[in-house]
Amino acid sequence: MPRTALIAGNWKMHGLTADLAYFDALAPEAAETGADVLICPPATLLMAAAARCGEGPVMIGGQNCHAQETGAHTGDLSAAMLADAGARFVILGHSERRCDHGETDPDVRAKAEAALAAGLVPIICVGETQAERESGDAERVVARQLAGSLPDNSQKMEVVIAYEPVWAIGTGLTASSEDVAAMHAFIRTRLPEPLTTRILYGGSVKPDNAAELLSLADVDGALVGGASLKVSDFSSIIRAIGRDSELLR
Ligand code: PGA
Repeated sequence: MPRTALIAGNWKMHGLTADLAYFDALAPEAAETGADVLICPPATLLMAAAARCGEGPVMIGGQNCHAQETGAHTGDLSAAMLADAGARFVILGHSERRCDHGETDPDVRAKAEAALAAGLVPIICVGETQAERESGDAERVVARQLAGSLPDNSQKMEVVIAYEPVWAIGTGLTASSEDVAAMHAFIRTRLPEPLTTRILYGGSVKPDNAAELLSLADVDGALVGGASLKVSDFSSIIRAIGRDSELLR
């Protein structure tokens, strides 16, 4: 079963309306590749970005959602609201959410179920800290996160996994190719739908390391933070996947 590569940009808390021209520059690059291309801007830009991208090759996603459909949750957004704004995907359980907002595996699972119910594809992030890797616990931690965060109905619905070692995010450090390949292979064995689920690598993916990371078995794409903010860098990463990359493996 082929898996189409997914190159996703996570803008985090960056981006104003003045930055929307980015999408005009990205669209021709996205049209040239066989990969799926996704940008997750801040929620304030979702509607404008989705309108700008229209039916074109760049898809739009959210960075988080609430587990409830509606309710008294000041400042939160439901999955249905993201979908209504034009999102197709939503990043969930990013380590910055787990760390800054205390999100637990059950929280992530509840959000993922809400996302699926709203017709969004959840991108569920997992990854170990430096201390966990150094103590030899990386696989155990990732297995626990997967077991706790994946929705019960993920056999029937599309979910994406992003393996993001916490120590590699925003640091310029990347896991070695051997470690990435080993962890992705391990994650694959833990998935209810191992053949169809896409597993992205994230953590300091840049134009100069993208080709190597994306060539690894079981790496079905990338979740890119800092390097997604400059359209030239993100385009280089898309190009690294190659043109015939309806990939895949
Ligand atoms: P980075 O972020 O590419 O800046 O390391 C990745 C992420 O947090 O998804």
